[in-house]
Amino acid sequence: MLALVLLVFCLVETDSAVDSYVAAVYEHRVILNPDPRVPVSRRDALIHMQKNLDIYEEQAARAALQGAQILVFPEDGIHGFNFTRSSISGYLETIPDPEQESWNPCAEPGRYNNTEGVRQLIFPTAWMNALPLLDSIQFHRAFSLGANVTVLSANTRNDRLIMTGSGIFTPFSATFHHALKDDPEEGRLLVARVPVLDPMGVDDVAESTSSVPTESAYCDKESCAASSSPQSSYPTFTAFMMHDPFKFVLINEAEGNLTVCDGTFCCHLQYKWIAHDERKELYALGAFAGLHTVNGRYALQVGMVHLNKSESVRCAGLEASSCGQEVEEAESKMDFLLEATFQTEYVYPSVLVNRMVLEQPEKLEKAAGGRVAMKHSKLSGGLITACLYGRMYHLDNE
Ligand SMILES: *[C@@H]1O[C@H](CO)[C@@H](O)[C@H](O)[C@H]1NC(C)=O
Ligand SMILES: *[C@@H]1O[C@H](CO)[C@@H](O)[C@H](O)[C@H]1NC(C)=O
Ligand SMILES: *[C@@H]1O[C@H](CO)[C@@H](O)[C@H](O)[C@H]1NC(C)=O
Ligand SMILES: *[C@@H]1O[C@H](CO)[C@@H](O)[C@H](O)[C@H]1NC(C)=O
Ligand SMILES: *[C@@H]1O[C@H](CO)[C@@H](O)[C@H](O)[C@H]1NC(C)=O
Repeated sequence: MLALVLLVFCLVETDSAVDSYVAAVYEHRVILNPDPRVPVSRRDALIHMQKNLDIYEEQAARAALQGAQILVFPEDGIHGFNFTRSSISGYLETIPDPEQESWNPCAEPGRYNNTEGVRQLIFPTAWMNALPLLDSIQFHRAFSLGANVTVLSANTRNDRLIMTGSGIFTPFSATFHHALKDDPEEGRLLVARVPVLDPMGVDDVAESTSSVPTESAYCDKESCAASSSPQSSYPTFTAFMMHDPFKFVLINEAEGNLTVCDGTFCCHLQYKWIAHDERKELYALGAFAGLHTVNGRYALQVGMVHLNKSESVRCAGLEASSCGQEVEEAESKMDFLLEATFQTEYVYPSVLVNRMVLEQPEKLEKAAGGRVAMKHSKLSGGLITACLYGRMYHLDNE
């Protein structure tokens, strides 16, 4: 479902005093081939691609006027989707044999000098949004914060495929666009000046990987289901979210401390409502530790607060467990501290509020032993999801 292609680029630094640059991303509504499975001639393919390239050219000129030094366009943006092996051929051209050169900069960061500790990433994507955890801007912002890198993400705009949400994310700032339901289906250019991040030293990398913990407390689906969540302080229920069985407790009091556990992975919330009408909006604290297997296989430890049910969403016809999952609007505000102890150093934090607006967490703390705490107050809009999304990359193939 989510095509994750991280491309890495290196800034050409002619002047070592350069400490910022102007970045741009363009969210593009791709002009599609209406019959992508039918092979076309090279000429027709070029005519089709030219329509998209004409828009790219216009946007490049607009970005240049604003001083942009780099402009990122989305994945599949020139040709669209759903080709077959033969119908794509008219669109292709020859590139150098990848067998002459095979290099994954993430796996081998030290192979070339100028790529060590790369901290500015471009991410051309065709990202299908999946609230409450994997909306485009929510996750890309979280990745930028959690990995302490800059991410320039350009998404495709396509309502039918639920694709929107692009941004220029640095560890310190976020410039983003996310269309809402009923917004016109159109492109959007974003431009922002961002700092050049110093390369992360090899020492930093070595230090952080050495803290990857053991797998002892990680639970797979069966053992999680069997465990009785002894540390949960309130009635716990299981609800499937994005095909994973999360453990939840409802957030019912005006303020308090709650814990929810999935197996031995526990998530703690200290909270105080600033605005909340519980007849209108119901929130839950959730935890999941295990292997996600639908549309991709990835191991997770996730702790989150989310809007479980909202009056503003029609639930009729939907099963209770899915109702409330695509909510883009919320009114309730809480001050909170969300924390959990992870068995991975790769934890991506996010706070998403009313009408798909991102907030910068007030305080993020990573302590030895895997404890991560996110403190936030004074929400600018009603809370949709606050989340600590831990990726257990080392367990993806277990
Ligand atoms: C591509 O195929 C998928 C599934 O086969 C379908 O849902 C989607 O509508 C198609 N998209 C386009 C642009 O034809
Ligand atoms: C990498 O940089 C070091 C010093 O900066 C230099 O000695 C070495 O030759 C460089 N290696 C490559 C492969 O460029
Ligand atoms: C993130 O990067 C900034 C700037 O390079 C640095 O000052 C800061 O210490 C880093 N934060 C973490 C948590 O590594
Ligand atoms: C929640 O826990 C914190 C820290 O242990 C404590 O200071 C606070 O009083 C507790 N709040 C409530 C409402 O129980
Ligand atoms: C919301 O909470 C109810 C229990 O009140 C539960 O049955 C339902 O599955 C929950 N939905 C989600 C999306 O968490």
